[in-house]
Parts: sequence; C-alpha cells; structure tokens
Amino acid sequence: MKKIGIIGAMQEEIDSLIKILENRKEQNLNHLTFYEGVYNNVELIVVRCGVGKVNAAVCTQLLIDKYNPDYIINIGVAGSVSDDVNICDIVVSTHLVEHDFDCTAFGYKKGVIPRLDDSEFKADEYLLELSRKSQTSLANKIRFFEGVIVSGDIFVSSKEIKDELQKLHGAMCTEMEGASIAHVCYLNNKPFLVIRSMSDKADGKAPDNFEQFVIESAENSRTFIQEMIANM
Ligand code: ADE
Repeated sequence: MKKIGIIGAMQEEIDSLIKILENRKEQNLNHLTFYEGVYNNVELIVVRCGVGKVNAAVCTQLLIDKYNPDYIINIGVAGSVSDDVNICDIVVSTHLVEHDFDCTAFGYKKGVIPRLDDSEFKADEYLLELSRKSQTSLANKIRFFEGVIVSGDIFVSSKEIKDELQKLHGAMCTEMEGASIAHVCYLNNKPFLVIRSMSDKADGKAPDNFEQFVIESAENSRTFIQEMIANM
C-alpha cells in the first residue's frame, strides 16, 4: 500500500481531510499530532505543522523520520501573485523558492541559498502527472494552474512585494511553508508536491479576504487531494 504524508499549516487546512480517514489513529510526537488512516487503499499520515518555514521544516523532518512516507504533499491556502489566478483557484507547484532568503550582499540573486546545488526545489514528476490527470473530473468546479510557488515568513499584503515576487521569481502564488517543506524533502531525497488554493490576492485586501475565504479555498485543496488519492 502506498503511504502519503500530507502537511497543512493550519487546522482549517487539514480538518476535513482528517474526517475521511478510515481506521483513524492519533499519535503525538513532540508538539505535533499525526493522524494516521486509510483512504481509497492509500495509507495517509496527516499533520498540522503550524505557520511558517521553521515549523514546516521541523514537522517535515519528523514526518520522514517517523513514518518514511513514499511521497509528501503540502496542501492549503496561498495569496495569488498573478493577475490570472483568482481567489479559490488552485495552483500546483512546478518548483518552489524561499523568497525571503537574502544573500544579495554577496551577489546572489534573492532566494538563492549559497552552497546548495539548487535553490529551486522541483516537484515530483509522477505527482505532477497525477495532478494533471485528476484535474479533468473537477474542471467544471475549480480552475487549475501550474507554476512557481514562493514561500517566506511574511504574510504578503502589498502591491510592492507582490510585484517583486512576480518579477524576481515568476511566482504564481505566495505562502509561508511550501518551499521549506520542499527544501527538507530535497535534502532527504523525498518526492513532494505543493497544492495551494487561493484565499486572497496578496494585496491590501489580503487579510480581510483571507478571513473570508480560508475555509472555502482550503476545501478546494481537500477536494483535489481526495481526487488525486483516488487516482493513485
Ligand atoms: N497564505 C495565504 N495568503 C497568504 C499571503 N497573502 N501571504 C503569505 N501567505 C499566505
């Protein structure tokens, strides 16, 4: 049986996924609760990592060390950085960048991590293919995009930062965990994918939009991951 680790930052992002687990068990490890169970003949381990890059990194390493899943998928919400991508649309990662990593003083481009082979963490091809296949049955309900997702310890709510993320990294959306999960997966040679549904447009209205749309957009991510698991 395939084993998938699924990480969400906030309770709203994992709540409805936990409910679909058959034979559900809970295990506490340090500060985290891991929910184990089966859905559609796939073993799932679902965990809430908390907000931000350090919380996400610690959680990802614990998930790998404790459960050694075949794949890791990060689901949740994000702020759209692209004019084409609207609230509740889904962005699937091609690759991820830690946009707040700044060694520009040494001549590196922003987001580049010195002395690492690659700072653009590439999503797994099998999971991307599975995602493309799984979109067709939902295409009448949800709009899907594929592109660069950037992460940083910043809730982006300004046009200036949003424009910079677009210009420097070609970002399609921004959030606060995906790239650090990708970074840990890269260091552990673990295939991963990030799926984010837009709760806001990372502009001045982002905090209000986030409050308004977080549940609805998190539901879209859950619907999609359920479809992907069914197609595994
Ligand atoms: N998650 C959801 N919206 C976000 C935003 N605008 N910036 C960072 N993380 C987010």
